Amino acid sequence: MQRRARAWRGENLRVAFVPTMGYLHAGHLSLVRRARQRAGAAGRVVVSIYVNPTQFGPNEDLSRYPRDFARDSRLCRAAGVDVLFAPADGEMYPAGEAGPYSTYVVEETLSRGMEGSSRPTHFRGVTTVVAKLFNLVLPDVAVFGAKDFQQASVIRKMVRDLNFPVRVEVAPTHREADGLAMSSRNKYLTPEQRAQAVVLSQAWRRAREIVAQGAVPVPVLQAELADFIAARPGARLDYIEIFDPETLAPLAQAAPGARLALAVFFGKTRLIDNETI
Ligand code: PAJ
Repeated sequence: MQRRARAWRGENLRVAFVPTMGYLHAGHLSLVRRARQRAGAAGRVVVSIYVNPTQFGPNEDLSRYPRDFARDSRLCRAAGVDVLFAPADGEMYPAGEAGPYSTYVVEETLSRGMEGSSRPTHFRGVTTVVAKLFNLVLPDVAVFGAKDFQQASVIRKMVRDLNFPVRVEVAPTHREADGLAMSSRNKYLTPEQRAQAVVLSQAWRRAREIVAQGAVPVPVLQAELADFIAARPGARLDYIEIFDPETLAPLAQAAPGARLALAVFFGKTRLIDNETI
């Protein structure tokens, strides 16, 4: 991959990159279209598929994360992807003569709350694998989804802090007709849970309506939305945070322009969503 990327650079071809964990859906493909726009017709679009073990906690869904490489491969071909990069675990985290893999990238501020509180080792795995992928693919532009808003913020910060010569772009969340954000993990939902999962997008829509009437203290809004979610029998709230979209700092008052993020369990399946309210 790196050899090919260096050859493209030698030919002055723009390289746009979309990192994924596969089981591709229309949200991923919207990022691929954005990548093609940025690379231009003459440039190169790279998609990576790698279910990165270091970003999963010990009791998370690594072993059952959905995979369908043949289908992903067809979708990438149809979308005009130039290279589908799918490295093996032994290539990404090799044990060498000097012992097991032992170098990690850690962002220490933006990665602390929200997903970082619920999944303490998650962002260390994400920043590490994305840094490695950037070094392999050598992209000019990398496209991420707003669906994982905190992830995109953490990666932007890593790129700035570590001087990666990569422009990070964030594309909007692609949704099902009822508002549910597309996610590879939606496959885990039973039909009943799938019907109830619309509560995530209903929650931020409700928050939007409330703040449109005037600013409200965040604890009041959180309590109101927690009740709203608790009214769904299958849903168990993990967190709702209202924060500054630039710094991710929690806000005292919820007002238009603030960002809301939430995580909700349906059985063992944990879904996240976020939007500007
Ligand atoms: P994955 O969950 O496969 O997502 C890959 C990219 O697609 C991420 O940038 C994510 O935000 C984006 N995405 C997911 N669902 C989306 C939707 N409904 N609309 C728009 N974009 C969406 O995120 C990861 O993989 C990994 O953490 C990764 C960055 C690849 C590192 O391992």
